[in-house]
Amino acid sequence: MQQTETTFDDRYRTGLDLAARLGGETDGTEAFELLGRQWDLLPGVFWPRPGTGTEWYTTAIPYRNAPRFLEIGCGAGVTAVWAALHGCGHVTATDVVESAVRNTALNAARHGVGDRVRAQRSDVFSDLAPDERFDLVFWNCSVIEAPEDFEFTRDVEWAIFDRGYSALRRYLSEVHDRLTPGGRALVTFNSLGDQRRIEETARQAGVGLHRLGESTRLLSGEGVTFRLFEILRPEEPRGERA
Ligand SMILES: C[S@@+](CC[C@H](N)C(=O)[O-])C[C@H]1O[C@@H](n2cnc3c(N)ncnc32)[C@H](O)[C@@H]1O
Repeated sequence: MQQTETTFDDRYRTGLDLAARLGGETDGTEAFELLGRQWDLLPGVFWPRPGTGTEWYTTAIPYRNAPRFLEIGCGAGVTAVWAALHGCGHVTATDVVESAVRNTALNAARHGVGDRVRAQRSDVFSDLAPDERFDLVFWNCSVIEAPEDFEFTRDVEWAIFDRGYSALRRYLSEVHDRLTPGGRALVTFNSLGDQRRIEETARQAGVGLHRLGESTRLLSGEGVTFRLFEILRPEEPRGERA
């Protein structure tokens, strides 16, 4: 996979810049349009502008035959609501940030799917009931690696940074334990992150990554390539269920 050569410091600076621009709190944005719908945005929640990838991932996810959908890191709730509107009868939407959980519940009610979307706080899988299983699990993860001692001071920073990719490692290691038989696990990654480190993190977690699709979009005038991956168990042949 190709990636423009950038250093840890370059990527970290880009992350700080994104955090400054994408948190609704910075400019008082309270609503936005995406995918032909209007959405509420609470202060501090990641603002999925066109170009951020949320628009593409949300329409690229294979929701068919997946009545029970789990989204980790739901942010404003666009993908969770979209899933409920496109065939998923039971959507669980979680985020480590409370404001995102509230925002998702707000948008689910706004679009008439409040009865099908359960929003709750969870740090990756740790706050879900141990026996909960899903047909499809997805995370548009926080793509920029932060130093291990990075201190989160604003909600929106959670949408950009992951300390040493430790949350991603937990997600990749634990996601298959959350699937129903035949269930599928997905994750996104984009060219603002460190592709070599994600491959290393996947190896450490003992999983494979099979690319289902990609799209390059302009984010603040710069081309960013967004990729959607299926997470494969070590024994699962690549591309079996593309
Ligand atoms: C790139 S944003 C995506 C938000 C939304 N899904 C979207 O596409 O617009 C990543 C999301 O993951 C959440 N997140 C970060 N670390 C997390 C963790 N350890 N557990 C759960 N959610 C987390 C962030 O708060 C943020 O909402």
